[in-house]
Amino acid sequence: MTTLAIDGGTPLRQRPYPSWPQWDKREEDALLATLRSGNWWAPPGEQVKALEQEFAAYHQARYGVAVPNGSAALEVCLRAAGVDWGDEVITTPYTFIATANTCLLVGAIPRFVDILPDTWNMNPAQIEALISPRTKAIMPVHLGGEPADMDAILDIAGRHGLLVIEDACQAHGAIWQGRKVGAIGDMGCFSFQASKNITGGEGGMILTNSEEWAEKCWSVHNVGRQRQGAWYQHIKLASNYRLSEWPAAVLRVQLSRLEEQSQKRAENAAYLAEALAEVEGLDPIPGDPRVTRNAYHLFKIRYDPAGFGGRTAREFAEAIRAEGIPISIGYPEPLSRHRVVAERTAFIREKLGLPAEPQPDCPVCAEVCARGLWLAQNALLGTRQDMDDVARAALKIRSAWAGH
Ligand SMILES: Cc1ncc(COP(=O)(O)O)c(C=O)c1O
Repeated sequence: MTTLAIDGGTPLRQRPYPSWPQWDKREEDALLATLRSGNWWAPPGEQVKALEQEFAAYHQARYGVAVPNGSAALEVCLRAAGVDWGDEVITTPYTFIATANTCLLVGAIPRFVDILPDTWNMNPAQIEALISPRTKAIMPVHLGGEPADMDAILDIAGRHGLLVIEDACQAHGAIWQGRKVGAIGDMGCFSFQASKNITGGEGGMILTNSEEWAEKCWSVHNVGRQRQGAWYQHIKLASNYRLSEWPAAVLRVQLSRLEEQSQKRAENAAYLAEALAEVEGLDPIPGDPRVTRNAYHLFKIRYDPAGFGGRTAREFAEAIRAEGIPISIGYPEPLSRHRVVAERTAFIREKLGLPAEPQPDCPVCAEVCARGLWLAQNALLGTRQDMDDVARAALKIRSAWAGH
């Protein structure tokens, strides 16, 4: 039996997977042109405005408002919608903490439904039980680039008069039943942070088809100004969430590669899913057949310890990384159990004199936290050989730990 790299053996792979971010002379030229333009900030500049239009058009949305990051995008939407102290937002416990934090930062309370085992996205069947007179919005997350069930979510929101704010921070170019995500609900938010499928180092975008929401978000992101108003005319309390020209210039070039890269990720994901069919104990999650295109920010895998001699997902991730495969474990615990979320929720409730209310149990999410694995998007920009190596490394580990 070959010795695993984690035990001092030779790693299966010596070559790295494609690095991220990727850039070429076009980003360099864009940055230099921005430097020489003398316009480094959005109000007099061209880059942010062009990015807003191009990103919105690519996502079949009418309006875009660029902001410094995805967290700010979510916060601006909530503030634009008037979501405030004591309001409730129904969302998913399996997401980056920013989704819940932004609710808490405006004083609202996130309420968590469990996730679906086949997509790891919010389970719409549990939403209605959580709706209360305080509920203002539903915030689905298109986790890892796979669109959430927007049909069911919009139906529920419509019947209860709730807003839908899509957290599409991981889902650039993802398509739900023929429609690009982001402006399927009332507003949608994207992140251009360093790991994302297009990146400006940092950056964020709000999309919407509603002129009213676009104007409100624009005002909130620009210190409460109005588009047609004087510079020192502020009509509401708000902060500065403007993106600068530098990341916008880079992001316009990044956006021009997104379509080709999305196709490559999807092709490699399909190939990898087939390759992993031979590895008992590693199951790519099936996804929702109604999804037209998964953006594959993450390739999501369910790990079964039974296939690997009872070792945990964390142990497996360490072993396969040592073999040169950049698989990692996912979010470590449901946000419904997260200390920071719980403490701030308790603080808000106490301030408002509201009785404590436990979050519902999210057993599917807890299981995914224990057994979920990810392969990040840049690995999916590699070759077929790169995909085969994921399965080969897993089989090597399986043979060492399970003896076959
Ligand atoms: C699902 C999700 N929501 C929100 C965010 C926040 O975006 P940012 O890091 O740009 O603030 C991220 C990304 O990091 C994310 O993955």
